[in-house]
Amino acid sequence: MIIVRTIEALQSAKEALGGSIGFVPTMGALHQGHLSLIQQARKENEHLIVSIFVNPTQFLEGEDLDAYPRKEDADIKICELCSVDILFMPSIDVMYEKDELCIGAPALSGYVLEGEKRPGHFDGMLQVVMKLLNLSAANKAYFGKKDAQQLALIMQMVKNYFMNVEIIPCDIVRDEQGLALSSRNVYLSIEEKQRALSLSAALKKATSLIRAGELESSVIKEEMKKILSVTDELEYVAIVDRNFQALHSVEIGNTIILIAARVGKPRLIDNLWI
Ligand code: PAF
Repeated sequence: MIIVRTIEALQSAKEALGGSIGFVPTMGALHQGHLSLIQQARKENEHLIVSIFVNPTQFLEGEDLDAYPRKEDADIKICELCSVDILFMPSIDVMYEKDELCIGAPALSGYVLEGEKRPGHFDGMLQVVMKLLNLSAANKAYFGKKDAQQLALIMQMVKNYFMNVEIIPCDIVRDEQGLALSSRNVYLSIEEKQRALSLSAALKKATSLIRAGELESSVIKEEMKKILSVTDELEYVAIVDRNFQALHSVEIGNTIILIAARVGKPRLIDNLWI
């Protein structure tokens, strides 16, 4: 594995590769969820590039940019074990100039739910993903479904800007109790972890209601909210279509149920694709 920290070093490392390239962009603190993306990308491509970059432009004022978990040595070992060809670990100066043009999230799907709660987050996320996809020149790039809106917006950006990369959505990875894996889970105490399980429990409840024939969004959301009442702050429970517009009733094959809630310090998100 070659570790590169500059654009020039990345380009020359890439020149040595022939054949298809898979790319997994991350912000580090790698966990089993990242591993499943990396392993899938490893299987489906001749070469594999992973990036680790905690992107400042997608954190809002007051969010946890400085406290975001950083585990460089462990991450390097994990990438080595996963047979990554190139690990790209740029600094902020390598990625950004002082005065840059920006791309913005779309007005409808980019400013609801996460876009409404974290205004500007998606602009910064799209900006860095555009840069990383261009730099990697990958054939396929892998993103988790846990960040459902992020995934949808990246797919839209690739389509709108005629970018030559296939975006591969990957399933949410959960621990044995059902908690969706996230780098921020390290902040949860044992007691908070128990309450954090209410997110996946609420999604399970939604599944069983839908299986029993209940499709009305308001009824499903009320039942979910009862389970989620143990969280410290429930930001939203939403039942939306694949364009993130609210649905009065669940449409099988075109629905995502999303939750954002704070438990202790971390803000957790989870979702279910129906
Ligand atoms: O999902 C993430 O880890 C980040 O948003 C990403 C896609 C690596 C961009 O910084």
